[in-house]
Amino acid sequence: MIDLSFEKIKELSKEYGDSFYVLDSDVFKDNCEKLLDSFKQYYEKTNLAYSYKTNYIPKLVKIINDNGGFAEVVSGMELCIAERTGVRPKMIFWNGPVKSKKEAERFLISGGTINVDSYSEFLTVCEIAKKHKNDIINIGVRCNYDIGDGVISRFGLDVEKDEFNKIFEMILSIDNIELKSLQAHFANRNYKYWNEKAKGMISVYDKIVATYGLRPSFLDLGGGISGDMPDSLREQLKLDRFSFDDYAGRAATVFSEYFRDKKDIPWLIIEPGTAVAANCMRYVCKVETIKDIRGKIIITTNGSQKNISMSGINPPMQVVGCEGEKLNCEKADIAGYTCIESDYLYKNYCGKIGVGDYLVFGSCGSYSVVMKPPFIFPNVPVIDISSGKTELIKRAEKYEDIFTTYNF
Ligand SMILES: Cc1ncc(COP(=O)(O)O)c(C=O)c1O
Repeated sequence: MIDLSFEKIKELSKEYGDSFYVLDSDVFKDNCEKLLDSFKQYYEKTNLAYSYKTNYIPKLVKIINDNGGFAEVVSGMELCIAERTGVRPKMIFWNGPVKSKKEAERFLISGGTINVDSYSEFLTVCEIAKKHKNDIINIGVRCNYDIGDGVISRFGLDVEKDEFNKIFEMILSIDNIELKSLQAHFANRNYKYWNEKAKGMISVYDKIVATYGLRPSFLDLGGGISGDMPDSLREQLKLDRFSFDDYAGRAATVFSEYFRDKKDIPWLIIEPGTAVAANCMRYVCKVETIKDIRGKIIITTNGSQKNISMSGINPPMQVVGCEGEKLNCEKADIAGYTCIESDYLYKNYCGKIGVGDYLVFGSCGSYSVVMKPPFIFPNVPVIDISSGKTELIKRAEKYEDIFTTYNF
């Protein structure tokens, strides 16, 4: 990753303004390769389906596609990004609890796979299949089982319920529906649950093969993987040291043991988002004012907590100083430009800081650009600095971009 010195930030800010994201797409690519390799060492037939919602910057999406990975989308909007990037429908899994029937129909008849999240959604897919008798309709079923983390997930169908079994009975009775995948997503990113995630999936697969003779080609364990992070973040999140291998070792070995000596083995799919996107982006903003309110130092910036999405914790932050007057702070709070009282990027900062200094926040690649509202300021640009090249990935939004959907 390029060093963001004061001179470098100044140079970038001349062209892009005083607040922007710096992406390193090489880091993203490297993360994807490392994650895939760690699963492949136990179960060779593994592939990634990148979670678009985490960070759908077209350049990242393209890296996945160019390297043979799948797209994991949850809306027509994300599907549109995949299509505009040139991803073929057969490389797209559509999850998500709500899908528009019209978009689902178009997607299914083009050869994409929909993982149904409810029984009623399955019935909608059946209607589409009946309407398009000459097309093969690829579906998957989102499975919900207990992984022992104390959470009742809202996603997928309870694998113990009759409706779940009914889906497979009906698939057998409809000629042009093909069961492509079983999928499960549990949000808990603790690697300790990955053994139960895999075991639960294998147990469902075993039952579907034995009872219905259906053999889905993809067994998808969803997201819920954390990537490399600085110690300061790990300690605040109360996580011990771990690597991709801690997830892979727990999950992919369950697959390799079960499928040893079996023929027609399925693909193991994982849907990383945070694992590969979080540490590939930094966010830069500038100190605008410093004031003392009844003994509390408040440092206000032209950035916002909404830009970095992390809340309740102090993100990795570096103060990149200009030469000028500095205040030596004890427990100062670094605030955002919005008028939200709780908009703080960092709490209890101790050290020197001055107006005009830049702040560089690390690990900002997941659920940041995709979640930032156009609240008070339009959104800032994204610049990719990787392999010695600088490329504008997203230009700064203008007022007109925001107002364009309103009637004046
Ligand atoms: C279905 C699905 N897959 C993958 C992901 C990505 O998971 P993570 O944020 O843990 O990387 C999510 C996140 O919400 C998800 O809902």
